Order: sequence, then C-alpha cells, then structure tokens
Amino acid sequence: MRTRHHPSRRCERSCRHLGTDPPPNAKPDNLHRVTDLTIGIVGGGQLARMMNEAATPLGLGVRLLAEAEGTSAAQVVPGADVGDYTDAATLGAFARGVDAVTFDHEHVPTDLLRGLQDAGTAVRPGPDALVYAQDKAAMRERLTGLDIPAPAWRVTRTPEEFVAFGDEIGWPLIAKTSRGGYDGKGVWKVDGPDGAAEPFAALGRALGPTERVSDAAGSAQDAGVVIVAEEFVPFTREMSVLVVRRPGGESVVYPVSETVQRDGICHETTTPAPGLDPAYAVEIQAFATRIADELGVVGVLAVELMERPTGEVVVNELAMRPHNTGHWTIEGAATSQFENHLRAVLDLPLGSTDLTAPVVVMSNVLGGSNPDLVGSLPVVLANPDVRVHLYGKSVKPGRKVGHVTVRGTDVAATQEAARAASAHLEGA
Ligand SMILES: Nc1ncnc2c1ncn2[C@@H]1O[C@H](COP(=O)(O)OP(=O)(O)OP(=O)(O)O)[C@@H](O)[C@H]1O
Ligand SMILES: [Mg+2]
Repeated sequence: MRTRHHPSRRCERSCRHLGTDPPPNAKPDNLHRVTDLTIGIVGGGQLARMMNEAATPLGLGVRLLAEAEGTSAAQVVPGADVGDYTDAATLGAFARGVDAVTFDHEHVPTDLLRGLQDAGTAVRPGPDALVYAQDKAAMRERLTGLDIPAPAWRVTRTPEEFVAFGDEIGWPLIAKTSRGGYDGKGVWKVDGPDGAAEPFAALGRALGPTERVSDAAGSAQDAGVVIVAEEFVPFTREMSVLVVRRPGGESVVYPVSETVQRDGICHETTTPAPGLDPAYAVEIQAFATRIADELGVVGVLAVELMERPTGEVVVNELAMRPHNTGHWTIEGAATSQFENHLRAVLDLPLGSTDLTAPVVVMSNVLGGSNPDLVGSLPVVLANPDVRVHLYGKSVKPGRKVGHVTVRGTDVAATQEAARAASAHLEGA
C-alpha cells in the first residue's frame, strides 16, 4: 500500500514538496503527481510531449527539464522545470527527483551524465552508448569495427585531407560535422575540391543551439570536432529501423520503414518499407539489434539507413531516443515507440511491435502558409482514417509542428491520404 506521506525514499523523491519547509518555489500541491515510478525527461520538444502521452496510461510520473516556458512538452507536463541542461547544478537538481533520466534530444554532454550516474541516478541511454549518437566519427569507427555496412568514410581535419579522400574514392563527397549537427545542419554535399573549405569554415562557428563544445573555449576544432568525409551514396531511398532494448538486454524491433527526407528533415514514412525483400528486412533488423546490444543502448535505438541502387543498405547514422521515423508506431504498432522507450528506460517488459494494419504512412506537418493548425481540423478529420498529432508549436517556415498517420491496405492510396491531410494542415 502506498500513501502520500509514506517515508520511503521513493516517495520523498517523487514528492519533493513534502518535508518540514517547502522550498520557496514550491508548486501548488495538485501539480505534483504521486507515483512509484517517475521518469525525468531532459528536453521539452515534441518527443517529450509524446513520451508524456505514453506515460499517462501506465500511471508513470513525468518530470521535465525544458529549455524554456511553454515548449511543446512544457505545455502538457505539470510543473516542468525550466533550465539549462548543460549546467551541472541544474541537471543534478532535476535528476534527484526521478527514478531514471532519459532524453528528448542527444545533446546533453556526456561528462555531465557521468556525474549524474556517479550520484546514483539511472541515465538511460547511458553516456557510454550515447556518445555514438552524439559523435559521427566515433559512430563510424565503432560500426566499422562491428562490420556493419557503411559508406566509405574518413575523419578529416583539414580541407587538404578532405580533398585527398575525394581524389582517392571519387567526387562528390558528403561532409559532416562529427558533433552538433541536426536536421541536416552540419551536412554538406561537396561536388569537388573547390567546396572543401566550407565545412571546415563552419567548424569555427557554433554549430547548433545545443553544442556546448563549440561555443566556450575556442573553436569546435579545438574541442575535437572534425569533419567526417563520406562517400556520396546515390541512394534509391532511405529507410530506418527501430530497436528498443532493456538494461538486461531484452529487446524488440519494429518493421523496417521507408523514409523520405528533404533538406535533412523527415517528411514521410511508409511501413513496412514497400518492396523490401522480407528476408533482407530480417537481416536489417538483426544487425540493428546487434548494434543496440554491442553499444549497450537502453531505450529506442533508431538506425537510419540508405539503400544503394544494388539494394544493399548502409547505415547513415544512429539516434538514441524516440525518432521521427517511428511516429507511425503510435497508431500503427501494437505498442508505440514512446511507450516502449519508457518501458525500457524503467526496465519494464517490452510490448509487441506488431503492425496494426498492412500499411502505415506518417506524414510530417511542417510550418507553411497556414498559421491556424487547429482551425484546419474540421476538414482534415473529415477523413475518418486520418489521425492528427499537433505539437502545440507556433508555425514557422519548415518547422516540425505536427504529423498525421493513416493506416490502410494499399500503399499508394494510404500515402495519398496522409499527404493530403498534412498538405491541408500546412496550408497548401
Ligand atoms: N553518405 C551520404 N550519401 C548521400 N546522402 C547522405 C549521406 N549521408 C547523409 N546523407 C543525406 O543527408 C541527410 C542528413 O544526414 P544525417 O542524418 O547524417 O544528418 P543529421 O543532421 O544528423 O540528421 P538528423 O536530423 O537525422 O539528426 C540524410 O538523411 C541523407 O538524406
Ligand atoms: Mg539523420
């Protein structure tokens, strides 16, 4: 039996307002959930918002460390903390109240996460795994060591080294900052030697809003950020596969999705990936699961893939959190990626990844000419097959503000329905 004032460690931790002297910033009593298991999510974006949705039916408590008031998740998690996740004291205070810390994004510096672990907090995924989602050079090196299919690649520290690699394997090349990129920022297609200087020039500037290493003590290069040169893969399509793994190693894997990225941003997914040989799909799921095992990932591991014209896939990159290419699982799988992520992070049994329909299409809603997303619902919901997820974000050009999911039996018809719905929400 559990009571509100039971003096267990867990209750004290999840009821931080209890005790003789409430802290000066104590929130009203009804803003605190009392629960035996509380998860702390760092980052207040839509992924945290959807994790919170998945936490509710399980009765889990959620605490949030958001970047600012009113972010997508801060709108729905009562009493969200607002603070800087690159500040050790802020992060430490946040983590003291939760049973496990997980993430809406991958940008928390690993030294701070090690500090949390040292203080006794479960950090999932942990810093030893997370580094392979934060650092593309480390990721390439590790996956090559595991014999996972990849494009030809090389770490380059100067434009001259980059040009030498291009001259060796042929142009064009892809250049990527090893750290700090997101949504295609930090990725360049370089057609020939003349373009080699640009990615290196960008290393001297801050790379992203969250890249701590590049802003304080000098340039990103000083902080060990390099340019990963990659063979340009003339892919026929991109795909992704999601594995979810518990601390003890139990894991589940979702069907492989086809994904459409434009300018580095996910636009659409179709699951299962149309026309993919089922035996090869199983092979892909197996190597993704092996990556999760070898890296010791806890929670969702998203493996982004590119399909060569030969049909062979190579790994593009890894993400260790619920992923845009897995949003289809909310309606399209027996257990969503968000719920399975929470289950894994709290070391609970994982749920079935079975499809709930022959075809599932997710189409992102990006900021366009329509500022009133909710005002479009009467039209969009007139199709009873369309499921809408809006993230509570203001509309800005190209910003991810929501997604729609449609389940069906025919690939083309299902894609068309999803595209029509997202286009209408965007204002097309
Ligand atoms: N070697 C390559 N050859 C051809 N295209 C590539 C290659 N690497 C990446 N791309 C293209 O660039 C996109 C962005 O690359 P990547 O996923 O590494 O960047 P990112 O900014 O980290 O993206 P994300 O938003 O997923 O974090 C890929 O989705 C793919 O379309
Ligand atoms: Mg990517």
